[in-house]
Amino acid sequence: MGSAVLEPTHAVRVLPARTDDVGRVAASVVASFVRENPHGVLGVATGGSPMALYASLAELRAEGVVATDQLTLAALDEYVGLDPADPRSYRSYVWQHIAEPWGVAAERVHVPAGSSEDDADEYERVLARLRVGLQIVGIGRNGHIGFNEPGSNPTSRTRIVTLDDDTRRANAPYFGGDVHAVPTRAMTQGIASILAAESIILVAQGAAKAEALRAALQGPVTSAVPASFLQTHPDVTVVADSAALGILS
Ligand code: PGA
Repeated sequence: MGSAVLEPTHAVRVLPARTDDVGRVAASVVASFVRENPHGVLGVATGGSPMALYASLAELRAEGVVATDQLTLAALDEYVGLDPADPRSYRSYVWQHIAEPWGVAAERVHVPAGSSEDDADEYERVLARLRVGLQIVGIGRNGHIGFNEPGSNPTSRTRIVTLDDDTRRANAPYFGGDVHAVPTRAMTQGIASILAAESIILVAQGAAKAEALRAALQGPVTSAVPASFLQTHPDVTVVADSAALGILS
């Protein structure tokens, strides 16, 4: 039995890692960027996938290996209808898991906010001004990146979207297991906003991501799998464990 490491159709660099090493391997990629761009702009994802990366980079900072405090951070998305101070908001996540442990000052932390298209356009202008150097993304088990759910257009920019039921189910654990408590809408960077980053790193762990990752890297480039648009970007690195890469043992 068993199968080879997933071979992407396009020029995507895949770094397989042991499950408990995904964060460290991904952090080393991010640390290289930070060393070359200490005042750089890092696009940051929320959710479970990059948490170990953020903790690992905080350790590198504590060891004096990398200086993160002059970075600027720009988040991918935010729920609509949650107070930014709510501990379940992505603003809170970015503070708790990234900005605070990395020593990044408030004025250099950008998270989408608001519920109108004007608010979304304002965030898109922030992104255009900042120009993300390295964008960190996870992948949804339905193939989303950011909250660009299946059907998202490759030319999409920051906008208000309705979350898929599956996305709300996946995020219910952060809301006491109650899917009805998960907001129904979010503001997300669009596919085009994400692809405007100079380089992108995708982090994935676990078998629940295997089908989405396979479709994203090996399948057709299609709105049905928004992450498949990563195949059109010239500089994408994937750090994933064997379960996410679909390696059978
Ligand atoms: P997760 O979410 O990291 O919490 O699995 C990833 C995503 O939905 O993009």
